[in-house]
Amino acid sequence: MTKTLLRALAGETLPTPPIWMMRQAGRYLPEYRATRAEAGDFLKLCYNPDLAAEVTLQPIRRYGFDAAILFADILLLPQAMGADLWFVTGEGPRLSTVTTDAEVAALKGPDDIHDVLGPIYETVRILARELPPETTLIGFAGAPWTVATYMIGGQGTPDQGPAHALKAENRAAFEALLDRITEGTIAYLSRQIEAGAECVKLFDSWAGSLKGEDFQRYAVAPAARITAALKAAHPGIPVIAFPRGAGEKYEGLHAEIGAECIALDDGVSADWAAAHVQTGGCVQGNLASSHMVTGGEALVTETRKIVKALAGGPHIFNLGHGITPDADPENVHLMIDTVRATVAA
Ligand code: CP3
Repeated sequence: MTKTLLRALAGETLPTPPIWMMRQAGRYLPEYRATRAEAGDFLKLCYNPDLAAEVTLQPIRRYGFDAAILFADILLLPQAMGADLWFVTGEGPRLSTVTTDAEVAALKGPDDIHDVLGPIYETVRILARELPPETTLIGFAGAPWTVATYMIGGQGTPDQGPAHALKAENRAAFEALLDRITEGTIAYLSRQIEAGAECVKLFDSWAGSLKGEDFQRYAVAPAARITAALKAAHPGIPVIAFPRGAGEKYEGLHAEIGAECIALDDGVSADWAAAHVQTGGCVQGNLASSHMVTGGEALVTETRKIVKALAGGPHIFNLGHGITPDADPENVHLMIDTVRATVAA
């Protein structure tokens, strides 16, 4: 197997970790901004297979990353399930809210989402044809809890307050919503795999706000259910789970979720992760994305530290969260050169 990302996911310890970056196709790149302008707006870009494939390929051409992630958004699934979705420039996503039993019941089921999502599968098919043979194609979806926080709140919220409130006030509706999203996610990711995605990643950006039993029930259990269903339908498909903000609860998650890889945010140290998480399998991460803005010696030192700390097991180098629009594209070169020049051990 020549694809280094798939080798790391299979549990191989490589001399140099494969590298990609969350949000690697994004506003920090002038070529992305040009294609987005050509498309009209962000959602039109997501639903235009030729242009979505083009922006997915841009960071591969510029940097030679080991993996490409499908260009789409975690909020396209709620849109396909019937929510209205739009983006307010400079602010972020807005959705029509789903908070009552009737609104949950009215959502479209897993067989009825594919008309809307068809262009996304077409993007995957184009990428499967056009990517260099050594580059792994990653499909993705939001994890049910994170997607639910946007559907319940109608927008991003600092503390996921509306979702926690619904969980407290109408647990049946909350759990029914998570179930519907879980079923939709399985169907959505299955189609991405059939179209050519070689592994899939579940983004649970707000997992860290689930405390105690809630973390197990609403972050771990749905991710485990999705992983099991995908592996039953597509034997061998590797899964990367990203329960951001899990902290010490990262320990043991490979086995609890059944995922090949656990992605780490920058809230845990690489040394701690080597001792407590990498023992269970491949880890991905976890350079603070602020280094892509500030660069310099601190970027180099921190990058080396992470590569060395995680050199004793399977590791995929990545940031702890998405690269931000104010990042300097030159700092990405510096990060990649540093990873590839760092001698293991
Ligand atoms: O990583 C990639 O390059 C693949 C594409 C991707 C996007 N969003 C494109 C995008 C992925 C994997 C996502 C995931 C996503 N989307 C998450 C989970 C990861 C995370 O960041 O926590 C979440 C919570 C969303 C929802 C979302 N989409 C928000 C909150 C925003 C607004 C914030 C922002 O950065 O503007 C988006 C918009 C979005 N999704 C952009 C991109 C490139 C920026 C849109 C633009 O071009 O204006």
